[in-house]
Amino acid sequence: MSKIISIHSFRGGTGKSNTTANLATLLAAGGQRVGVIDTDIQSPGIHVLFGLDGAAIGHSLNDYLWGRCTISQAAHDVTANLHTDGAGKPFSSTQGKLFLIPSSIQTDAIVNVLREGYDVGLLTSGIRDLLSELQLDVLLIDTHPGLNEETLFSIAISHALLIIMRPDQQDYEGTGVTVEVARSLDVPKMLLLVNKTPAAFNAEEIRQRVQQTFACDVAGVLPHVDEMMTLASGGIFALHYPQHPLTQLFREINARLLA
Ligand SMILES: Nc1ncnc2c1ncn2[C@@H]1O[C@H](COP(=O)(O)OP(=O)(O)OP(=O)(O)O)[C@@H](O)[C@H]1O
Ligand SMILES: [Mg+2]
Repeated sequence: MSKIISIHSFRGGTGKSNTTANLATLLAAGGQRVGVIDTDIQSPGIHVLFGLDGAAIGHSLNDYLWGRCTISQAAHDVTANLHTDGAGKPFSSTQGKLFLIPSSIQTDAIVNVLREGYDVGLLTSGIRDLLSELQLDVLLIDTHPGLNEETLFSIAISHALLIIMRPDQQDYEGTGVTVEVARSLDVPKMLLLVNKTPAAFNAEEIRQRVQQTFACDVAGVLPHVDEMMTLASGGIFALHYPQHPLTQLFREINARLLA
């Protein structure tokens, strides 16, 4: 059965899109058929990590939500883009596939959504169609920070929810809100992920504190990694640094999410 995983955070900039892109890439590299959907309609961005030019994207999630295309027509096969540099090493998996359903970065498309909204129920049926039409093993949903209607929908239909926070007082407070909402929506599996942990912090202490504060399992405590900042969303970290401890932590998170 295919699995739906939402990646969320209460506050912005916690690393949702980079984490989603890395988890998805490692799953596809392991031979799975993976979809990534960018439901951050107000401020999309994950397409950049997969090497898509926002101005030349073609069909997007917005087009689907406005009845201009099917959801599969908005799915872009980005498997061929998964290499370490422009001319570099090809993606090694022979079976794995990665499809991205991007949100539009066109100004009028974003403004239209903000002004007129859309039928959020279409998102749910679109996701169901996507799973069967593309025969996906896993669908990852990269969300807009904070709580809004599409985020609640995506959480409600997910088999697993990964909530990302930084070890920051503001994140602790906001994460509590998300955890409470997710509990009320009965998500089968909820995991917390601490990201951008400064080297001066003790990862094990943070894990225990987070686990106790939210009474929720912690999938990992990821360090702040300069190479990730330097990559600056110009590619997928796990492809550039396959041996890096952070890449290994991403693999472990995948194992926890799909267990
Ligand atoms: N572990 C990390 N170490 C260092 N930098 C990181 C790490 N994780 C993410 N970043 C950086 O943080 C920035 C924000 O990451 P990203 O865009 O993935 O966050 P986001 O949660 O999707 O943001 P938004 O809420 O705006 O969608 C990027 O510059 C990214 O390279
Ligand atoms: Mg993002």
